[in-house]
Amino acid sequence: MTQDWIASTGQPLRGTLHIPGDKSVSHRAVMFAALADGTSTIDGFLEGEDTRATAAIFSRLGVQMETPSPSRRIVHGVGVDGLKAADGALDCGNAGTGMRLLAGLLAAQPFDSVLVGDESLSKRPMRRVTGPLSSMGARIDTEEGGLPPLRIHGGQPLAGIDYTLEVASAQVKSAVLLAGLYADGETVVREPHPTRDYTERMLKAFGVDIDFSPGFARLRGGQRLKATDIAVPADFSSAAFFLVAASIIPGSELRLRAVGLNPRRTGLLQALRLMGADISEENASEHGGEPVADLVVRHAPLHGIEVPEALVPDMIDEFPALFVAAAAADGPTVVRGAAELRVKESDRLAAMANGLRALGLRIDETPDGATIFPGPLHGGTVDSHGDHRIAMAFSIAGQVATGEVRIGDVANVATSFPNYDGLATGAGFALRKA
Ligand code: S3P
Repeated sequence: MTQDWIASTGQPLRGTLHIPGDKSVSHRAVMFAALADGTSTIDGFLEGEDTRATAAIFSRLGVQMETPSPSRRIVHGVGVDGLKAADGALDCGNAGTGMRLLAGLLAAQPFDSVLVGDESLSKRPMRRVTGPLSSMGARIDTEEGGLPPLRIHGGQPLAGIDYTLEVASAQVKSAVLLAGLYADGETVVREPHPTRDYTERMLKAFGVDIDFSPGFARLRGGQRLKATDIAVPADFSSAAFFLVAASIIPGSELRLRAVGLNPRRTGLLQALRLMGADISEENASEHGGEPVADLVVRHAPLHGIEVPEALVPDMIDEFPALFVAAAAADGPTVVRGAAELRVKESDRLAAMANGLRALGLRIDETPDGATIFPGPLHGGTVDSHGDHRIAMAFSIAGQVATGEVRIGDVANVATSFPNYDGLATGAGFALRKA
C-alpha cells in the first residue's frame, strides 16, 4: 500500500520556519569526513533517507560514526586509504547523488563493491559517470542500458583526466574529482554550464589543494584530507516549496531561517523575482563557507515568464515548484533547455504536466520543457511517481485548488524533507494522510 496525501484549501501561511539541512552538503560532509584523517563533527546534517543511506554505507565500509543528537554526526575518519570492503551490496536508496559520487570513490579502492538503489534509482542513467571513470582506468559493470546496479572492480590504477562534461551535472563532476583524488597526475573537469560547487568548496575545507572557478576544477591525485567541522545550511531546494506556497496563497508571510544561498542553487529565487514575487533576504551571514540568509516571503501576484535558459542548471531541482507558481500566475510560462528533468527521480516534465492537467490546466510539453497555461485549479487525483519533489509541489497546488487534491505515493518525501507535512500544516497548509 502506498501512502497518499489529501491537500485542500488552507490558511494564509504565517510564521518562522526552520528548514532541514542541505541534502547535497550532507552527503558530501559524511563522505569527506569519512575519508579524512581525524574526527569531524557535522552539524545540521539532514536526517533524510537519502543522506542516512550514505552514512550507513560508510559504516559498512568500516567508518565509525556517532549520532549524539539528531542532525549531528561525529565521524571518525579512516583516511583516504582506510576504507574496508563491505560484506555485500551497498544500498543507496533513492539517492542519485549517493550512487554517482560513490561510483567515483569506490572505483579507486583496492576492493570490489556493488551499488544498488530503489526502483526509481534503478532506472536512472549511470553511463554519464561510468564513461569518464572508465577513461581514467576504472572498471564498472552496469545493467543493460547503463543502469544500476553498479558492479565496481577495485584495484585498478587510475590516471588523471581532462574531462568536459556532456551534461550539466554536479554529480558527474564530483565523481570524476573523487576518482581524481586517487589518480596518477592531475584531473581537470570543465563545465559548459557551471553546476553546484560543494565538492570543490568542501574538499578545500578538508585541506585539499584544488583550483576552481565557475565551470572549472583541477586537483592533483595523492592528496590527503584533514578532518574539519562542517555546519550544513538549510536546504534551498526544500525552502523553495514554501517560497512558492507563500507567494501564491493570499495573505501569507513566512520567514525561512538561515537558508543556504549558494548562487549555483538559487535560480528559482531569480525566476520568482522575474515573476513578481516579494522575497527579501535578511540577516545575511556565512555558514561553513556558504552564504546564508533568512528569506522573508510575502504573497504577491505572479506573472508568467520565459524562464531564462541560463538559469536552468541553477534551479534544476526547483522545476516542480516553479510549475505550481506558473499555474497560479497571470500568463503562460515557458520552460526550455531542461531535458535533464526527464531523468530525475521521475520524469519531472511528464509528472508535472500530467498532474496539472488532471487539475484542469493546459500544459504543452516539449522534449526539453513545457508551456504552462495558468488557470483555476480544480480538485483531482495526481500521481507523484514516488518522487519527493513532485509530491511536495502538488501539496502546494492543493492549497489553491477549488477541490481536494489527492496525491499518490508520497512516502519518498522523507528522502529529502522529513516532517514536511508537519512543518507545512503548522504554517497553515491543509494537508493530511489519506
Ligand atoms: C546534486 C546534483 C544535481 C541535483 C541533485 C543533487 C548534487 O543532480 O539534481 O538533486 O548533490 O550534486 P545532477 O548532477 O544529475 O544534475
